Amino acid sequence: MSSAPEPPRQRSVTTHDFVARKGSAQKLVVVTAYDALFGRLVDESGVDAVLVGDSLASVVAGQESTLAVTLDQMIYHARITRRGVTRALLIIDMPFLTYQVSTEQALLNCGHAMQKTGAQAVKLEGGSADIARTVHALTAIGIPVMGHLGFTPQSVHALGGFRVQGRDDGGAQRLLEEARRLEDAGAFAVVLELVPAAVAAAITHSVSIPTIGIGAGPSCDGQVLVLHDLLGLNDRFTPKFLKRYATLATDVRNAIGRFRDDVREGRYPDDEHSF
Ligand code: KIV
Repeated sequence: MSSAPEPPRQRSVTTHDFVARKGSAQKLVVVTAYDALFGRLVDESGVDAVLVGDSLASVVAGQESTLAVTLDQMIYHARITRRGVTRALLIIDMPFLTYQVSTEQALLNCGHAMQKTGAQAVKLEGGSADIARTVHALTAIGIPVMGHLGFTPQSVHALGGFRVQGRDDGGAQRLLEEARRLEDAGAFAVVLELVPAAVAAAITHSVSIPTIGIGAGPSCDGQVLVLHDLLGLNDRFTPKFLKRYATLATDVRNAIGRFRDDVREGRYPDDEHSF
């Protein structure tokens, strides 16, 4: 008996595909996800990469900042997201204190994160010489690294809050140097968060790796948004850069309100929904 042929499985996106898209007219698209169901929906939408961001601290866990997220929590969320993501590149954010203390610790933590989750790359914040040395050591043992510059949420208290970085000449120059440092260290891409559009454009033109912007204007090689923000699920977060593509917070409240009314008024369950 012959069974129907399986549809061809799409080749998964690699970090090499990312680098090859530098300067391409087709911009890179990255969206966060934190579980299997949304991982699958984001993957099926045709994005290039799914980021299991430590933004899950605020988005999923209701925390004030990303500082409280642990490596075990990131590994749990990346592992369940992996079940839904079969095509896009899967990147795991390394949480606070898992890569800053020593290069040796970073190698072990990033290696375990990839081993236990099936993520194909890690993301680290910062562009200091120490971070660059760590990025170099990671890439030397085969761990692809995405950098993250500008507003780096794990340094929120040192940066004085959620604010645009690199507004003055000194700050802009520092960001440019950090981006070059990460490029030299072997990072395959770099996120630029809350950076003036002109500064992001200058960095994008100065490095050979793709820049992925969030609140960094249109010149970056790609864009990333937090899933719950772009879906309008988190209607209390309203930064200037955010464009909402749905208003799901309203839809969720309305749907649950209709269920509540149906139950209270005896309309649900009816014959159609009963055995
Ligand atoms: O944690 C996260 O979701 C991120 C993106 C906003 C880039 O770092």
